[in-house]
Amino acid sequence: MGDKRGEMKKKRVFSGIQPTGDIHIGNYLGAIKHWVSIQSEFDCVYCVVDLHAITIPQDPKVLKAKIREVAGLLIAAGIDPEQTAIFAQSHITAHSELTWILNCFTPMGWLQRMTQFKEKSERQKEKVSVGLFDYPVLMASDILLYDTDLVPVGEDQKQHLEFTRDLAQRFNAVYGETFVLPDASIPEVGARIMGLENPTKKMSKSEGGEGNTINLLDPPDIIRAKIKRATTDSLREIRFDESRHGIHNLLVIYELFTGEDRGDIEARFEGKGYADLKNKLGEVVVEGLRPIQTRYKELTEDPQHIDSLLTRAAERVRPIAERVLKKVKDGIGIG
Ligand code: TYM
Repeated sequence: MGDKRGEMKKKRVFSGIQPTGDIHIGNYLGAIKHWVSIQSEFDCVYCVVDLHAITIPQDPKVLKAKIREVAGLLIAAGIDPEQTAIFAQSHITAHSELTWILNCFTPMGWLQRMTQFKEKSERQKEKVSVGLFDYPVLMASDILLYDTDLVPVGEDQKQHLEFTRDLAQRFNAVYGETFVLPDASIPEVGARIMGLENPTKKMSKSEGGEGNTINLLDPPDIIRAKIKRATTDSLREIRFDESRHGIHNLLVIYELFTGEDRGDIEARFEGKGYADLKNKLGEVVVEGLRPIQTRYKELTEDPQHIDSLLTRAAERVRPIAERVLKKVKDGIGIG
């Protein structure tokens, strides 16, 4: 991995996840599952983005525990820490440094147009931090520091990826070819898993009630209960129809956990009721998450183990980030 990339000719993949709230099946189906499946094909680097997490207030003890939890969950879900780097963003100072530099090349207007900022800041009004406004620049730095070719993310990150490309192009146009232009890789199905209670909005760590998300560490009876309470509609037919948000979302979750094709799924539930679908889906999700939960429990028996994996991974990838940062500094005449 890392520096051997030239010889192996593998394209580099980079992606990140925030250590806030509980990791849910939206994160899993929209991102993590794909991160796992592309590990041997690409040179993958995955980052627990703790600096992004502090753009909103966090309890220090909880944050520290969440960083471990997320790293543990990524490994439990199938990321192989021997092959793939999983590191904490704050362990590599180049992320903060490049962010400052890129801030100086980012038009305010570009950031003002970011829909995630507009949504989040609406709630916080003028208490909103400068960090939250600057969130996309830190994300661009994450990606650009690793000469990233591909960024596997859910649909909600699409605008941030476009921003990253625009910023890289703008910089390259002035200072010469410095950054690799990354492409977003967004799955065709599952890029936007919706909330269970409110299926017109995406499943989110920070929004909606307890019953809106299925978390990777939810116990089986909670998973079944949440699915039973999921919002559906007053129709009867069970089929993939995007205009019927609730049922469509449940079917997509079923499809992604089972790998069955849509025709077979519709045939399976032909003439059956929503309760049948929900019961079956409950089992499918419980069984799908069981191996992750078991592995997670084993892994976290020794919390030091995860800490040392994070430290080692940062050591492995730091030289890549430092090389790019040096190129940037040389280009603009500092450092
Ligand atoms: P975060 O932590 O919100 O989410 C992690 C990943 O999960 C995807 N995701 C979803 N996919 C489908 N349906 C959903 N309901 C759903 N909710 C979340 C997200 O799209 C994401 O891929 N800004 C990023 C973290 C980040 C990052 C990066 C990502 C920081 N630096 C560099 C890629 C590259 C975020 O907040 O993800």
